[in-house]
Amino acid sequence: MSARILSSIFALGVLIPSLAWSAEAGSPTFYRDVLPVLQEKCQDCHRAAGANFGGMVAPMSLQTYEEARPWAKAIVEKTQSREMPPWDADASFHGVFKNERTLSDEQIALIKRWVDGGAAKGNPKDAPEPRTFAGDGGWQFGDPDLIAPIPQPFTVADEVDDVYTAFEVDLTEAQLPQDAWITAFQCKPGTPIIHHFNCHLMAPDANGKLPPKRSSPLSAELAPVGAGQYIGGVSSGTDSSPYPEGFGVPIKKGSRLTFDVHYHKEPGAGTAVTDATSAMGFKLTYTKPPRTIGGVPAMMNFNINIAPREASHQIGPVKTTLAGDVDVLGLMPHAHMRGDKAKFEAFYPDGTSEVLLNVPHYDFAWQTVYYYKDINRLPAGTRVEYTAWYNNSPEMAAIRGFDAEQRVTFGQKSTDEMMMGFMMASPVPADQKK
Ligand code: HEC
Repeated sequence: MSARILSSIFALGVLIPSLAWSAEAGSPTFYRDVLPVLQEKCQDCHRAAGANFGGMVAPMSLQTYEEARPWAKAIVEKTQSREMPPWDADASFHGVFKNERTLSDEQIALIKRWVDGGAAKGNPKDAPEPRTFAGDGGWQFGDPDLIAPIPQPFTVADEVDDVYTAFEVDLTEAQLPQDAWITAFQCKPGTPIIHHFNCHLMAPDANGKLPPKRSSPLSAELAPVGAGQYIGGVSSGTDSSPYPEGFGVPIKKGSRLTFDVHYHKEPGAGTAVTDATSAMGFKLTYTKPPRTIGGVPAMMNFNINIAPREASHQIGPVKTTLAGDVDVLGLMPHAHMRGDKAKFEAFYPDGTSEVLLNVPHYDFAWQTVYYYKDINRLPAGTRVEYTAWYNNSPEMAAIRGFDAEQRVTFGQKSTDEMMMGFMMASPVPADQKK
């Protein structure tokens, strides 16, 4: 054997282990590369006691290798198609909202390389610290200062598939001894069959009196009428997000809370569910925060009439002109099963305009509140326009499971429609103008 060949074998011998080593370094492992992404972008929902987004508990936990490995192919599919994590704002809004749930192109490619490379486990020593979740007991922001439980157990009987109901709860002195401000709140569903659960707040009048209580439970159709201010709620995909530092919603001693709940399940023998544990929880402060939230009306249209099989039905724009400067904390489009697209647009007093939020493929399954990363201040005289589009075509009907032959009008049911553009906003006090 010539020295040359010998030396090249020798060289190969050196090369092979180093090749193997570099392949190891280059192909992603679960613990070192993939788990950090799952922690950040998936585990809010995909964990053992995942956030219950109004009955939309994610089907599996993605906290350990053993849990994630069987889903490897599905994870590649759903991330390549950008169906997961769910986020419906148009890509040009990347970086604008603080609860954005998107993966970067690199993260999507990393997941694919991990699976193509055999979905290696790697070394558990490389794993990041496991994420801990405030309120694994169900409260996303830790222990509330005020808890208002559902006032009576409510049973959804075997034969019932869909029911909308509401309950009024007058806060006692023990629950709320003095006027306060809400700094965070959450509606916590007591059963996974809750599809939405909203909170309304009514302060007593100047004499400390509330209107007479209505018989309980009441029809949810009545809840928004005479239930006071809509505070928010939970439906599939909503996060409970504390208000930014310095902001609060006033809550007066002796106020009434109205729970407005939609239960939905398959009907049939043995399917009855009793909800005895739904509750609202509030974080409070007793010192007036510098800024209060509320007072900017929602943009809505109740006059809805969508023809059978109509594929592109536009409603709006509904317009509102701001009397003073307004800080916008978040935006939320709301529609039901036929909701297809939604847009918020601002027309400024200087003649320029801007799209504040564009949702090109609205998905009823994900009722997202888009919380600004940096509060968006709109000057006095700005006209905000909200427009929504609806799709009652047989194609959409096949995806979403409704009847395209139905004429659709306003209503509470998922198969009726709504057109609402909410702005979570706070008028800027005169002394805080720039
Ligand atoms: C906001 C909550 C939420 C987040 C965040 C989220 N998921 Fe999901 N995921 C769900 C829910 C709910 C479902 C079941 C309903 C559905 O398929 O739409 C689901 C379904 C899935 C499925 C399909 C499971 C099946 O039955 O086939 C995969 C795979 C998946 N998610 C992966 C991910 C990955 C990977 C991430 C992060 C990159 C992620 N999800 C982030 C809520 C979430």
